[in-house]
Order: sequence, then structure tokens, then C-alpha cells
Amino acid sequence: MSKPIIGILSGSTRAASLNRKLTTAMAHVFEGDGAQVQIIDLNNYDMPIYNGDYEEAEGVPEATKRLVADLSACDGVFIATPEYNGCMPALLKNAIDWTTRVELGQFTGPIYGIGSATPGPLSGIMALRQLHFILTRLGAQVVPTQLGVGHYGAAFNTEGHLADAGTLSRAETLARQMLSAIGN
Ligand SMILES: Cc1cc2nc3c(=O)[nH]c(=O)nc-3n(C[C@H](O)[C@H](O)[C@H](O)COP(=O)(O)O)c2cc1C
Repeated sequence: MSKPIIGILSGSTRAASLNRKLTTAMAHVFEGDGAQVQIIDLNNYDMPIYNGDYEEAEGVPEATKRLVADLSACDGVFIATPEYNGCMPALLKNAIDWTTRVELGQFTGPIYGIGSATPGPLSGIMALRQLHFILTRLGAQVVPTQLGVGHYGAAFNTEGHLADAGTLSRAETLARQMLSAIGN
């Protein structure tokens, strides 16, 4: 049987992004469960801020079509979102919005899991709420366990794994919920 493909996507493209670190830590967890990980790096999908006039004149960006295809090729997708002023960031929202101008199969096909890392203690719970809302609004099945990682300083060990036993256990539960839903 072929390995399930899990796309991992960080809503921040910053080089030292905590959410990028979280996707890497989740990659270790998914690989430990026998999945194949596909990094979906928004740096490789450059899109302007959505504007209807732009779309009418230029059409949907080539990067958007590639993002739709790359998400759709996954059996599951894990997204780690930063929280900006209590919300998910414009970068992630804009990428999602653009893809909906093509089709919705990239949301209805893969099983989704979500997480958020912040330097403070609250771990992006407001951004997670928004990301959950938009994904389910677009028809995605999002597994119930969400991975909030706060107190960044202590979150990851030197190998990039989740350092806290409780957080790692939640990450494993999230991954297994995704893989189990994919298997059904
Ligand atoms: C404009 C802006 C707004 C922010 N608002 C919040 C916030 O509402 N809640 C929070 O926990 N952190 C907030 N932060 C801090 C981010 O969590 C922190 O910069 C984080 O490292 C960003 O994610 P990244 O490391 O993946 O790039 C904000 C940061 C910026 C730049």
C-alpha cells in the first residue's frame, strides 16, 4: 500500500518562523506514523492581494493554479498559522481566497489538521478559530484536535521536535486522527 501524502504548510514565510518550525516538528510526527511529507512553502506561490479587476485583466495567477494542484495531490494537509492581532495572517487568507477562484476540491479532498505557534502563552487560539471556520466553510473536513503551541522558547528541542511531552502527545493524536480519516 502506498504511503499517505501529507502536505505541511506554514502561514508564515519568515525564515525563522515559529510556525515553519511547527510544520517541521509535525513532519517528524507524520513520518513517524509512516506518512510521506510534502512541504508546501508559500514562498513558492507568489500572488498579489486579491483584486477582482486584476483577476478580470490577468486571470488567476499561475501560482494559484499550482497551489490548488499541489494541495489536491495531498491526502491530508496540516496548516500552522501565525496569529496577527487576533486573526490569521493576510498571506494565508489571501492564498486561500485566490484558490477558491479556481475550484474547491483542494479543500474537500484532503483531510485537514491545524495548529498555531506564538511566542506568548495563548498559542494563536483566535487565529485557529478563524482558520477552522474558513476551512469548514469551504467544505474541508478538519480533525478535532488542534495544536496550539505557546511559550515558544521551550517548544522545540535542538532536533526540531516538540519538546513538551503533553504537546507532543497532542500532535500525535492530531496526526493519527488525520491518518485514520484518510484511511476511511
Ligand atoms: C502585526 C502582528 C500582530 C501580532 N498579533 C499577535 C496576536 O494577536 N497574538 C499573538 O499571540 N501574537 C501576535 N503577534 C506575535 C506573533 O505571534 C509572532 O510574531 C510570531 O512569531 C509570528 O509567527 P511566525 O514566527 O510563524 O512568523 C503579532 C505579530 C505581528 C507582527
